[in-house]
Amino acid sequence: MEENCVNCSNCATERIKQETKEILEKYPRKKDELIMILNEVQEKYGFIPKEAQLVISEYLSIPMAEIYGVITFYSRFTLTPKGKYNISICLGTACYVKGSQKILDRAKERLKIEPGEVTADGKFSIDDVRCVGACGLAPVFMINDEVYGNATVKQFDEVLDKYMNEENSK
Ligand code: FES
Repeated sequence: MEENCVNCSNCATERIKQETKEILEKYPRKKDELIMILNEVQEKYGFIPKEAQLVISEYLSIPMAEIYGVITFYSRFTLTPKGKYNISICLGTACYVKGSQKILDRAKERLKIEPGEVTADGKFSIDDVRCVGACGLAPVFMINDEVYGNATVKQFDEVLDKYMNEENSK
């Protein structure tokens, strides 16, 4: 590391690779371990960084495309960083026909970010998702693991205010 180095992207890349190698030391080089390893990486970073995927791919001799396929198949894994509070708005058919797009539009308007982005303070992120398995409660949004059903824009505003106020009072 160079003098005056302040976590530049090269150092961040190296750090993630090194930390992923440390995680991998606990696991045998078996393909079956992939999900457990991804779980641990997701837990550590809040997403699965590309650098970590590379190191895992080499360690388990699994092609990157296969790892990508697993990450995108399971909803608990994500390829992009999330905010402390990740807001998932369901745009599956049942939710969409009941107006979930309006809730997504409201989230974008209030947080000034697009789906897949994180607010500058790292507190909120938005995801548009396809069916979270609660169609009977459509339209649905979630904040982290908390599900809000029969949602309205007004209710969304109230919930978001609550989270924002909690954060401001810390
Ligand atoms: S379509 Fe939204 S929960 Fe199923």
